[in-house]
Amino acid sequence: MKTCKLALIGFGNVGQGFAQILRDQQETISALGLNCLIVAVSDLHKGSIYQPQGFSPADLLQAVKEGSSLENLPAQARGWSAEETIRQSGADVLVELSYTDLQTGEPATGHVRLALQEGMHVITTNKGPVALHYPALQALAQQKGLKLGIEGTVMSGTPSMQLGGELLAGAGVFKIQGILNGTTNYILSQMETGAPYAEALAGAQQKGYAEADPTGDVEGYDAAGKVVILANVLMGASLTLSQIQREGITRLTPADIQSAQAAGERWKLIASLEKTPAGEILASVRPTRLPQAHPLASVGGATNAITFSTALLGDVTLIGPGAGRLATGYAILSDLLAIYRA
Ligand code: HSE
Repeated sequence: MKTCKLALIGFGNVGQGFAQILRDQQETISALGLNCLIVAVSDLHKGSIYQPQGFSPADLLQAVKEGSSLENLPAQARGWSAEETIRQSGADVLVELSYTDLQTGEPATGHVRLALQEGMHVITTNKGPVALHYPALQALAQQKGLKLGIEGTVMSGTPSMQLGGELLAGAGVFKIQGILNGTTNYILSQMETGAPYAEALAGAQQKGYAEADPTGDVEGYDAAGKVVILANVLMGASLTLSQIQREGITRLTPADIQSAQAAGERWKLIASLEKTPAGEILASVRPTRLPQAHPLASVGGATNAITFSTALLGDVTLIGPGAGRLATGYAILSDLLAIYRA
């Protein structure tokens, strides 16, 4: 059995989803040979605590449920900043779950860099550092002999990065297309049943699909960030967000949705990435009206889908959850298992 000490930066939806998995799936995880100990949690709003023997995930979740500061739990140290947590917790793995900022990638990028410099593996579901600084962070991890786990940045725990980056690495991926944002897909599905936009968005927030600032979802920035991640991590490109042609769903009206339905079609926010024979990368995120017979038209709710077009296998499609507490919490576990298997 390998014991793995974890420090969590951020204890919002994803951190709580991961804690829930550790609480409820302990037997499964032990059977895989892993003993996970959360030795530190640092959250701007919920408090910061450190305990070398580890916290019970159930206690962490209970404190949040009661609206009580984590700092009311028995702990050896309290009030540490994220930096102090990284430097002083003695964790093996930093789990970086602070809010996504696709403009600067901060503060998350600083946390990831510091943890790697301090000799910790890093797992992050935060799209900022990966969309903006992946090559440099990955080079630092490699130089230090450490792993940088990023499965949860695209399609939450559905293993799109592992599929594209490892299993299809030799298949000649030249095009990637899909539905990569759970919030907007959920909103569009709800609006098809007659729900008003604001109510559908509130539902996505309540279910933990939306970003802290949902503008990133509905204006297509989140999906565009994922396109950048796919391009740069899987296709060796060096795209930036500004190079993605981007349009969100906010201009779609209930009338647009109804008229598509009347014509046997559906609006979907489609992300697309294609390498031309000349080596140019064309990338976009835009609402697209699909016939109901199209394979992506039936992907509803917060479910996502990705199709890799490859030279050797033709099209390979993966469908699964794209957002949500448990689904994204699972991405952390899958990265942890990959680190410890290696
Ligand atoms: N806000 C994102 C979504 C979360 O709705 O898809 C997962 O990246």
